[in-house]
Amino acid sequence: TYVIAQPCVDVLDKACIEECPVDCIYEGQRMLYIHPDECVDCGACEPVCPVEAIYYEDDLPEQWSEYYKANVEFFDEIGSPGGASKVGKYETDHPLIAKLPPQAE
Ligand code: F3S
Ligand code: F3S
Repeated sequence: TYVIAQPCVDVLDKACIEECPVDCIYEGQRMLYIHPDECVDCGACEPVCPVEAIYYEDDLPEQWSEYYKANVEFFDEIGSPGGASKVGKYETDHPLIAKLPPQAE
């Protein structure tokens, strides 16, 4: 799966959403999360993110290694809706993201 990491927090550019053929990039309050079971590893989202927040799981920079878990665990309660556009923005974030201080410049 692909993973969204810290650079997305408080930026939420959303260019990635337009590229995903399976609509598996879900919106939290402060960042977006890729569904690990719905992502088909097409890689289309990765080059369009202006802040380089998206990585293939094996290429995730060391300082953001926890974001693999954050993307996966975000869906623990949500499950697999099978499409982000129909569920809209979630009211929550993974605890790792929720506790971060404001990231925007
Ligand atoms: Fe975030 Fe980049 Fe997408 S900032 S919303 S991962 S285009
Ligand atoms: Fe979609 Fe990116 Fe996966 S475009 S299918 S989330 S690699």
